[in-house]
Parts: sequence; C-alpha cells; structure tokens
Amino acid sequence: MNRNIEIISSLKGFQNYCRSNRLARKTIGLVPTMGFLHEGHLSLMRQSRADNDISVISIFVNPTQFGPAEDYDAYPRDLDRDSRMASEAGVDVIFAPSARDMYPEGYATYVNIERITEKMCGTSRPGHFRGVTTVVSKLFNLAQPHRAYFGQKDAQQAIVIKQMARDLNFDIEIIVMPIIREEDGLAMSSRNKYLSPEERKAALVLRKSLLMAEGLFKSGVTEAAIIYNRIKDMIDFEPLAKIDYISIVDADTLDDVGKLRQNTLIALAVFIGKTRLIDNIILT
Ligand code: PAJ
Repeated sequence: MNRNIEIISSLKGFQNYCRSNRLARKTIGLVPTMGFLHEGHLSLMRQSRADNDISVISIFVNPTQFGPAEDYDAYPRDLDRDSRMASEAGVDVIFAPSARDMYPEGYATYVNIERITEKMCGTSRPGHFRGVTTVVSKLFNLAQPHRAYFGQKDAQQAIVIKQMARDLNFDIEIIVMPIIREEDGLAMSSRNKYLSPEERKAALVLRKSLLMAEGLFKSGVTEAAIIYNRIKDMIDFEPLAKIDYISIVDADTLDDVGKLRQNTLIALAVFIGKTRLIDNIILT
C-alpha cells in the first residue's frame, strides 16, 4: 500500500490534524517511535492501519530518555528512508517535531511512574522511564488517539505505559505487539546497526540463553535461582558479552519470582561491546 504520506513537524499542526479527524468521527491509531524504522516498528504500524481509520506515527529521538553518557547524538536518523517505509505500512501522517518545540526554553513538567520504573532498565538507566512517560504523555495529549501501539521488545516500557494510562486516565487502548526478530533470532532494534560483524554473532547469546531457559522450564526446572545461573553462565561464556541484568519476574507486576510459572517474564539487558541490547520471553 503506497499512500501520500504527510510529514508534520509543528505541534499545533499535528494537534489540528488529529482533532479534525476525531471530530469527523474517525478513529486514530498512534505508534510512537524514535525512527530508523525496521520490521518491528512496521508490525505496529500495520496493526494500527488495520484497527483504525487514521494511522499516525511519531518519529522523535527523545533527549529526556537518554542518560548523559548514552547515545543520543549517535542514535541513527534517516527520515527519508523512514517515510518511505511508513508510507508502505499505510501510515497517513508522520509527526516529526524538533526537540526545541517539544521541550522549549523553560520546560519544567515531567511524568514519573513510581516502583515499576525503579528496577531492571530503571536501575541501569536512571531517569530513562521518566523521559519515556513524559514524551508519551505529550504525544497522547497532542494526538488523543483511540489506540496506541507498543512492542513487547521493550517489555518494561509497555508495562510502564499501561500503568501510566490507567493512573492518569488516558482514554486510550494500549496494544502490545509481539517481538519481531531477524531470521537468526536476534530481536530487531535500531541499535543493531552499531554491531560489528563479530558482535552481531555474539549478540545471538541473548536469544539463545532465553530459549535455553524456556527449555529448562518445559523440562520441569522451576527454581528461578537455577535458571538465573544457567543464563548467567551462558552469557559469561561469550567473551564480547557483559551482563547488565537478568530478571525473572511476574510479567504483569515485574515482581521477582522465586519459582518459574506461566506468565513469568525473563528479561535480559546485555552489553555486546559498547552496545546495550535487551530481549525477553514470557513463559507459557
Ligand atoms: P523505539 O525504540 O523506536 O521503538 C518504538 C516502538 O517499537 C516501541 O514500542 C518498541 O517496543 C517497538 N519495537 C522496537 N523493536 C521491536 C521489535 N523487534 N519487535 C516489536 N516491536 C518493537 O521505544 C521507543 O522507541 C521510545 O521509548 C518511545 C516509546 C518512542 C518514546 O520515546
């Protein structure tokens, strides 16, 4: 499907576009992204296209969710390529604001979700989720979509957004879509671009260790401590990999579990060289 895609950079312009469609009784689906699109992003867009009259996405590398030592400047950007891909996924409008417009001089308001943001990625990336929930709140307010789409790839982010929508009474259905992978199992990510060929091979250890853990669970091993150590051993064995965290938690509450059961989430963050990758699996 190739449509005429419109790129809107002004906040008012985007707000007006969404408002007039809402007033015309059209349903709106929103897919927030930071761009450098891949099949993972496109799967959310296709679902949004199927569910709604109007499908809008945002492309905004959000400075408030990056730590001072992180890759904000290096984060890959390619709006031309992105707009071609989004157009083929049936997107009507790309909202691509500037950082100055999103956070003008004197900006002072942040959204902070307690507790569930204080573990896992929240521990290694202080302030990250505050940046995510702030920007997503702003996008929700600007677009006021009927539905918004997020990926299970960022499992903790999806839970944080759901909690925020509940707590702040956003009247938006939050839809979480499955992880899209490369053929060899690596979860798609804009950051995979950073990997050298050797690192790209080493990165498979994330998926491999998750599948190994799932296999152990299916064969009857339920002690979280045992599974944790087996995952740790496998990743430690890969010279280019350095563990950030291994979490074995309830998939809804993110509370640690001592014994694996249905709906246990195993989530990993691992540095491959300088690149921090995440992946996860929910046991069924
Ligand atoms: P970004 O990393 O660009 O991801 C945008 C959306 O695509 C997120 O909901 C993410 O979970 C989803 N996604 C990424 N890789 C995926 C994959 N392999 N399979 C399925 N879905 C995938 O996440 C962000 O941007 C930002 O934090 C954002 C929510 C836009 C706020 O700035």
